Amino acid sequence: MARPKIALIGAGQIGGTLAHLAAMKELGDVVLFDIAEGIPEGKALDIAESGPAEGFDAALKGTSDYADIAGADVCIVTAGVPRKPGMSRDDLLGINLKVMKAVGEGIKANAPNAFVICITNPLDAMVWALREFSGLPHEKVCGMAGVLDSARFRHFLSLEFGVSMRDVSAFVLGGHGDTMVPLVRYSTVAGIPLPDLVDMGWTTQEKLDAIVQRTRDGGAEIVGLLKSGSAFYAPATSAIEMAEAYLKDQKRLLPCAAWCDGVLGLKGLYVGVPTVIGSGGIERIVDIKMTKDEQAMFDSSVNAVKGLVDACKGIDETLA
Ligand code: APR
Repeated sequence: MARPKIALIGAGQIGGTLAHLAAMKELGDVVLFDIAEGIPEGKALDIAESGPAEGFDAALKGTSDYADIAGADVCIVTAGVPRKPGMSRDDLLGINLKVMKAVGEGIKANAPNAFVICITNPLDAMVWALREFSGLPHEKVCGMAGVLDSARFRHFLSLEFGVSMRDVSAFVLGGHGDTMVPLVRYSTVAGIPLPDLVDMGWTTQEKLDAIVQRTRDGGAEIVGLLKSGSAFYAPATSAIEMAEAYLKDQKRLLPCAAWCDGVLGLKGLYVGVPTVIGSGGIERIVDIKMTKDEQAMFDSSVNAVKGLVDACKGIDETLA
């Protein structure tokens, strides 16, 4: 049986890391696409040359021709520009919207059966635009944000508790970034909910609140340190987890930006929600019940995403 084909649209910091991870995990053959001359070819060759030492079997190809992504099983989209210090994700809207148009049309023409994972920011609006431009079924187009946000949350919690990150699970909802909604009562250490751990004296409410805020600001913290771009290792790892769930029909329950129409009180919006990812793409959205406070936070996150979608419609009239 032929290996799956993974097309990475954007061969920058995240794209290159995605290619390396996909090859090392032998998820399939990798095509790196970018408009920057020589970059996709150079990275593909460099990673291929790590194959003998690493011992993986995967073909890597770099290209600037959309025809080379033909028949891809998975497309992961990072094309666009990242943040610089002082910028919010929303500042990227205008420029990255144009990129989504080109990418959406490229996927529509060449890989209409792919499972598409968008990483380009501002995430929730870009995944919506990408779906509109590509015309693919909604369940085959999603965005990577919640896996990363919850990974950051888990990491900070594991440091606070002095336990393995593997034993910390976290539950986040909503848009990527400032309006992210961490559901602390569903976040646990080996099944013990965070509020119980506060009661048990493992941490304090103040410390927990600070960890939640650091998670919300997690992307900005890294932009501030790197200065020349934004995070790429953890974003790439998070998207690979989603791609693997699809390719191996794992039915993983992962938070991601998914099309919500008739769930969680939403009518037609991409936003971060708990989903089940398997060979059907986004196979299910977990329609959880929220408390009043959680619902208020979720509503404000939803409104922020709606504002960005409206801004997209204002920029590109074909989306209105
Ligand atoms: N088609 C294909 N590739 C494009 C296009 C396009 N129309 N426009 C830009 N690119 C490429 C750039 O040439 C660059 O190589 O996208 C790549 C982006 O890579 P980086 O600048 O290194 O950015 P990266 O850190 O990978 O982040 C990409 O993900 O997390 C988000 O906010 C981040 O929107 C940003 C995206």
